Amino acid sequence: MFITFEGIEGSGKSTQCKLLKEYLESRGHNVSLTREPGWGTMGKLIRHIILEEKELDIHPLTELYLFCADRVQHVKDFITPRLENGEVVICDRYFDSTIVYQGYGRQLDLYTVKKLAEASTLDLVPDVTFLLNLPVREGLRRLDLRDETTNRMDEEPMEFHELIRQGYISEATLNTNRIKIINASHEADDVQKQIRSLMDSIL
Ligand SMILES: Nc1ncnc2c1ncn2[C@@H]1O[C@H](COP(=O)(O)OP(=O)(O)O)[C@@H](O)[C@H]1O
Ligand SMILES: [Mg+2]
Repeated sequence: MFITFEGIEGSGKSTQCKLLKEYLESRGHNVSLTREPGWGTMGKLIRHIILEEKELDIHPLTELYLFCADRVQHVKDFITPRLENGEVVICDRYFDSTIVYQGYGRQLDLYTVKKLAEASTLDLVPDVTFLLNLPVREGLRRLDLRDETTNRMDEEPMEFHELIRQGYISEATLNTNRIKIINASHEADDVQKQIRSLMDSIL
């Protein structure tokens, strides 16, 4: 089973991924937790370019190709072998992030973005995607409290993050079977309860 988490920065993806991993392990599953971008040697190099080199003037199309390049290797070398081994794989961001950030956020041609993002999955579509829905202001507030340094995307203006939030909701409406919208405004444990109850009905 392949599970992905999506949502704006600060929406609680990393927190909820870990809690879901614990839950599924307690139910006897072998679980691998991973994230995008940045898996493996190549992924780390790509992640560094797209998120950490703040002085680089990266064309949105270049950014799109880099995220997709990162994903191809991640799917082929990490995710697929584990799924074939019977594990549950939980991924913090996946191709919906590309569609939403590069399509809705950077406003590249949505058709092109979707074609490339889909191709980058090598046809591996998640069984379920949890979209952590949270007002942008609250996400940014949580980021301020977190001690991690911000990356190139976090530093985008408020309007950019609004486009992302709305883009996610549009995509969820187009993919109601796969993308489950979770109210992420509650305490972490309550958010996790919503996720676990949906997981129970899927498993
Ligand atoms: N439900 C919640 N309520 C309040 N704070 C939260 C909640 N979930 C996570 N946090 C905190 O908010 C910050 C961002 O959460 P995180 O899981 O890192 O989000 P993301 O991975 O989506 O950016 C962290 O400091 C985290 O401890
Ligand atoms: Mg995170």
